[in-house]
Amino acid sequence: MDPQTLTELLDVAVLDRLDRIDDLPDDDLARSKALRKEGYSAEVTAALLTQAQLRKEAAAKLGPFAEDMLFTRDGLAQATRLPVAAHHARRLIGAVPDDETFRIADLGCGIGADSVAFAGMGAHVSAVDADEVTAAIAAFNLRHLPDAAVEHARAEDVDLAGFDALWFDPARRTIGKADKRGSTARITDPEAFSPSLSWVVDQAMQAKAAGVKLGPALDHDLIPAEAEAQWVSHHGEVVEVCLYFGTARQRPGRSALIMGERTLLVHEDDLPETDEEGIGELGRYLLEPDGAIVRAGLITALCAPLQARRLNPTIAYLTTDVEPSGPAAAGVTAYEIVDILPAKIPSLRKELVSRGIGSVVIKKRGADIVPDQVRRQLKLPKGDKATLVFTRLGDKHVVLLTHPQKETP
Ligand SMILES: C[S@@+](CC[C@H](N)C(=O)[O-])C[C@H]1O[C@@H](n2cnc3c(N)ncnc32)[C@H](O)[C@@H]1O
Repeated sequence: MDPQTLTELLDVAVLDRLDRIDDLPDDDLARSKALRKEGYSAEVTAALLTQAQLRKEAAAKLGPFAEDMLFTRDGLAQATRLPVAAHHARRLIGAVPDDETFRIADLGCGIGADSVAFAGMGAHVSAVDADEVTAAIAAFNLRHLPDAAVEHARAEDVDLAGFDALWFDPARRTIGKADKRGSTARITDPEAFSPSLSWVVDQAMQAKAAGVKLGPALDHDLIPAEAEAQWVSHHGEVVEVCLYFGTARQRPGRSALIMGERTLLVHEDDLPETDEEGIGELGRYLLEPDGAIVRAGLITALCAPLQARRLNPTIAYLTTDVEPSGPAAAGVTAYEIVDILPAKIPSLRKELVSRGIGSVVIKKRGADIVPDQVRRQLKLPKGDKATLVFTRLGDKHVVLLTHPQKETP
């Protein structure tokens, strides 16, 4: 959206039309015609339709707050989910004594999801974004929170003295280089993040308390020894690794936080002395550890509480003879193993057809297959649904026919 269209969109009457857009038929062409007939320009009409669509999509991340917010497509894609933003806010606000006013700078605030959580939990927030339209949208989204202010500025130009905490969520996608569908590419070089990772870490290390949100694929070698690194998954999806510094660092080292129906925190200190001890034979259940635990390199921390062992030192599956229970069960999806089937397609097909299986969910680790291609090659006739796990037992490729113990996300 260009700044001129945003200015027009921010007009009270236009915003009111956006809030009432569901009065119009739920069809973009019909809506567009109706809005043009009401006198809105082509640009404002397009912006209204886009905002209506983005509000719908944003509900998954921001719940009912989305109905009252504005977005850019990029801004929404990069926004923190509200429960995760609330977790950031609790950690950072908890890093200073209760009786003081807590001042935090959000340096690259995007559409303001993290700032909404900081300010909503009582912090005084100074948010900046280098993109003019994004900063204006963040200001709109924070308008009901009097202790939050947004400025259009580069993080590198902000005076960071006087803040109790700093929050960074550097842009990790190409800016302004969207393809025809509005998608941007992921940047892998941390020095090309904006602001760059080295600048961000320098500032974070000098702050009283700081948090840095990064992509979960972050190379462990880039994590400074001074930081606590916490990978987070939300309802089964790994969403970030967050580095905490200063008084925001609760426990040094790597941890994985699983948020969803159940919560679980797994920490590096829970790892067994050696990984090797835990490797063994296939048991009654195959366990697929949550992605945050895998990314944090902590799967063997689940072995003791789940009476489980690894199948293979390089494959992120565990196996056990007992049904997972207790808090650590929140860290895995369990599959009861019904049978071990051959991995070669003709033999596998024969086995599946003989069991009346006609549709398959395919999971894989340690097997070089493309699930859709396998499904096409199998050409199964209509029949029951089954979950297949393609993996290796030792060096042997196998397919495990399983019953998932709970719905996989
Ligand atoms: C990942 S998004 C932030 C998302 C935000 N935490 C949220 O939850 O909505 C990063 C933002 O940083 C902004 N940005 C990029 N470079 C910047 C810089 N040097 N200074 C300030 N903001 C910057 C981008 O415009 C983008 O909106």
